Formats: sequence, structure tokens, C-alpha cells
Amino acid sequence: MSLKVKDLFEFSGKTALVTGGSTGIGLMIASVLVSNGVRTTIVGRKQPALDAALATLRALGEAEVDAIQADLSRMDEVERLAETYGQRQDKLNILVNNAGTSWGAPIEEFPEAAWDRVLNLNLKGVFFLTQKLIPLLSAAATDEDWGRVINLSSVGSRIAPLGASPAYGASKAGVEQLTRIMARELGRFRITCNAISPGWFPTRMNAVLGAAASDAWEANTPLGRLGTAADIGGLALFFASRAGIYVNGQTVEIDGGQTL
Ligand SMILES: NC(=O)c1ccc[n+]([C@@H]2O[C@H](COP(=O)([O-])OP(=O)(O)OC[C@H]3O[C@@H](n4cnc5c(N)ncnc54)[C@H](OP(=O)(O)O)[C@@H]3O)[C@@H](O)[C@H]2O)c1
Repeated sequence: MSLKVKDLFEFSGKTALVTGGSTGIGLMIASVLVSNGVRTTIVGRKQPALDAALATLRALGEAEVDAIQADLSRMDEVERLAETYGQRQDKLNILVNNAGTSWGAPIEEFPEAAWDRVLNLNLKGVFFLTQKLIPLLSAAATDEDWGRVINLSSVGSRIAPLGASPAYGASKAGVEQLTRIMARELGRFRITCNAISPGWFPTRMNAVLGAAASDAWEANTPLGRLGTAADIGGLALFFASRAGIYVNGQTVEIDGGQTL
């Protein structure tokens, strides 16, 4: 097989499903996939945000894009998404389990409903959406180029600064172990599974924590800046590429050194 960069990173004809692709890190990853010719479907709950993201992605002019509205904290919606995707697309090469949420509250007051909301989306949703999409990922796989599952973790799986959300941190630590177990189990179906663990990327999720917090993370980053679409999309592209196929069950932190 060719060892040239253009062949190791050839994506034309590939398809991807990016959950939470309407904003933030999901849209960053979708932008990089579309820019490299990957036919991409994004998922979120709010149709206006999906429409805005579709316009952004279509403007790149490099691949077809589609959107499916779904609430992935609910099992019936996870099942409907998998079914709808299968009706609209003939195959799936790359699944990016990116949709996620957090909830902050003092530990003595942390509400059960918030715990369930975070765990249902960040952990249960990741597992069951992947389970439902095994047939499509497996059918598209070849001996040379397997299906890829890429899960979004967080440095919050490992570090516990004051005020860290217990539900969020626990869900992301769970994502990393799930990634190892899925990598082991999905091999039978010719699918790899890895996780991306970001530090602070400026998005809606962490905007609520305020400019002072954002500035502090930026100041603590050896690179002197926060992460961008090229940074996180580049890592996703590696995991999705022929070059990245022998990396399996791993979590790669991407924080510019914020948490050293
Ligand atoms: N930003 C960071 O610094 C950072 C750091 C570490 C890890 N991460 C992880 O990166 C991922 C993306 O986070 P982000 O910062 O980009 O957050 P974001 O800007 O809030 O985006 C979250 C995305 O998920 C979708 N979403 C939320 N709840 C959903 C649900 N129940 N069903 C389906 N889609 C849902 C949102 O769309 P709707 O609201 O319309 O549903 C949106 O598209 C998350 O897994 C997060 O934990 C982020």
C-alpha cells in the first residue's frame, strides 16, 4: 500500500456522524472532516443551531452535509437517530460521540436529576448509540480501512480542580474505560475506538464559567493560546485516517499543556 501522506490521509467517499455537531468542538471536528471531503451528518436538539451549522459546513463546499435532530440523553431518540441515519445514508465510516453536557453545584446539594442528565448523555448515550450503529460501521469496513469510533472525554476525567462537577468528571472517566472496552469488543466488527480528551476550548459549554476562568486556562497554556478547530479536528482526522488505524483503545489529551 502507498505510504504517501495523500493516501494515508485520503477521505474522499468517507462518511461521518458527529453528535453535538451544531456548535463548539463538534462543529470544529465536523468542519475539518467536511474540509477533507467527508460526507458528514451532524446531530443536536435545537433545529436553529443545526441549520446555522449546516450553512457553515455547506459554505466550505467540500462535501455533502446533513443534520438530524435528536436528544441523545433518551434511549428512544438514540434508537431513532440510528434508524434515521441508516435510512438517509448508505454507510458509516466514522462515528464521533461528541455531544456532552455538564452541571455545576456544591457536592452537598448536587441534584439527582442533574446527575442523570449528565450521565445519560455523556456515558449511556455514547455506549448505546455506538451499539446501534455497529451494523452500519461494520458493513462499511474493509480489511485495510476499519470503521472508527471517536469518543470525547475531558481532562476533567483526571484532574479535580475546586468546583469540578462530580457527574461530569465521573462520566468522562467512564468514557475512557468504555473506550478501552469498546476497542476490545468492536475489533470483531472491524471497528477501532479511541478518545480525545480536550483541555479548555472556547465553546458555549465553558463560556458560563466566565472570562476570568478562560483567561486563567489560557495563561497556564505553554502555547499561550486556547485550542482551535485545526488543533482538535487534526487529532480527530488522525484517528479517522488510514495512518491512525493501529492506535486503538487510547485516550489522547489535547490541551496545549494546560494541565502539565
Ligand atoms: N469545550 C471544552 O473546553 C471541552 C473540554 C473538554 C471536553 N469537552 C467535551 O467536548 C464535547 C463538546 O463540548 P462543547 O464544549 O463543544 O459543548 P457545546 O458547545 O455546549 O456543544 C454541545 C453540543 O452537544 C449538543 N447536545 C447537547 N445536549 C444534547 C443532547 N441531549 N442530545 C443531543 N445533542 C446534545 C449541543 O446541541 P443542542 O444543545 O442543540 O442539543 C451541541 O451541539 C463534550 O462532550 C464536552 O464534554 C469540551
